[in-house]
Amino acid sequence: DEKLRDLLLAHIHDVPDYPKPGVMFKDITPLLADAGAFAALTDALAELCRRYGATKVVGLEARGFILGAPAAVRAGVGFVPVRKAGKLPGATLAQTYELEYGTAEIEIHADALGAGDRVLVIDDVLATGGTAEASLQLIRRAGAEVAGVAVLMELSFLTGRDRLASALGDAPLEALITL
Ligand code: PRP
Ligand code: MG
Repeated sequence: DEKLRDLLLAHIHDVPDYPKPGVMFKDITPLLADAGAFAALTDALAELCRRYGATKVVGLEARGFILGAPAAVRAGVGFVPVRKAGKLPGATLAQTYELEYGTAEIEIHADALGAGDRVLVIDDVLATGGTAEASLQLIRRAGAEVAGVAVLMELSFLTGRDRLASALGDAPLEALITL
């Protein structure tokens, strides 16, 4: 709602020209440092877990870990990390995806999800949608169902929602703030 959006926005700082000229970086560290705002964010994400019947939260390294883990605890479901390639010790499924320049690769433990799981993906920002799209492909390849994607901020001018559409299917994309 509007009150939550204003509270969250008040604690997200704009950093111009980071990490490169012309880019406006959205710094969430002030939000994380404010107990009330971080709790309100966690409650809102946990509510989405319950609304969509999630049995697991998948958090996307790194900032998706910070938001997803407390939401999973509050919702009473387990947390599964999707990590950048080479960080998980067990057998993994890997997915590469296109970046503005070059490619990236993320992984999930092959046995982390099962046929009974409904997964809510949590991340801080939906930008081009590449990271989230690759995570949905991993979840489906792991044999689980996608309950939805929840982000703190959607940068709508980068049209990630469109890129995500086919991977989402009927599952919802929820953004607490749309910029
Ligand atoms: C950032 C952000 C999202 C992703 C969004 O992660 O946290 O995960 O980019 O971009 P996309 O929609 O274009 O894929 P990044 O890997 O840059 O940094 P992090 O490790 O701090 O999360
Ligand atoms: Mg990230």
